[in-house]
Amino acid sequence: MEDEKLVLLYSKDEIDIRIKSLAGRISKDYRDREVALICILKGAFIFMADLVRNLTIPIKIDFLRVASYGNQSQSSGKLTIYKDIELSIEDKDVIIVEDILDSGLTLSYLIDKLSAKKPRSLKLCVLIDKTERREEKVSADYVGFSLEKGFIVGYGLDFNEQYRHLPDIYRIEMPIKS
Ligand code: IMP
Ligand code: MG
Repeated sequence: MEDEKLVLLYSKDEIDIRIKSLAGRISKDYRDREVALICILKGAFIFMADLVRNLTIPIKIDFLRVASYGNQSQSSGKLTIYKDIELSIEDKDVIIVEDILDSGLTLSYLIDKLSAKKPRSLKLCVLIDKTERREEKVSADYVGFSLEKGFIVGYGLDFNEQYRHLPDIYRIEMPIKS
């Protein structure tokens, strides 16, 4: 393990407040409708679990696992779906629930793939919108936190599969290599 340093960015309490607010907006926007929430694995699993427990509307849930090759902190752009959804979303109102929107490559790929299944509507809910490295024109309909840059871990988010279990969100600082 490298000697990375973790700096607290968003506490569990701040995350709870944002999630309650997102869930309130979604419950209002989709009242009298049934929405299918698709959790993008693995990073969004804790966010999804907290979000759904704050919704006051009927929902269905499903999971999709997508990853780019390698395990580096930047997408390679070559994406593969390792687990597809099982629900039929044709004619359904769908929300993709994702941890981080960064370059936008993952979400633009998923929007294409899921749009092909002909949902009635397709929206995006992301916990963290990281704006600086955007390459694809993707914007989220529901955003927990906006941040320019930085590599973030905890609350489901990993660095080389570490730190997902931490209840708060941290910025990770790498030692400067000389
Ligand atoms: P994009 O395709 O560049 O938008 O990257 C999105 C994916 O990269 C996210 O779903 C995360 O899995 C991962 N990712 C991007 N930034 C971070 C970060 O700061 N921490 C953890 N994972 C990240
Ligand atoms: Mg992810």
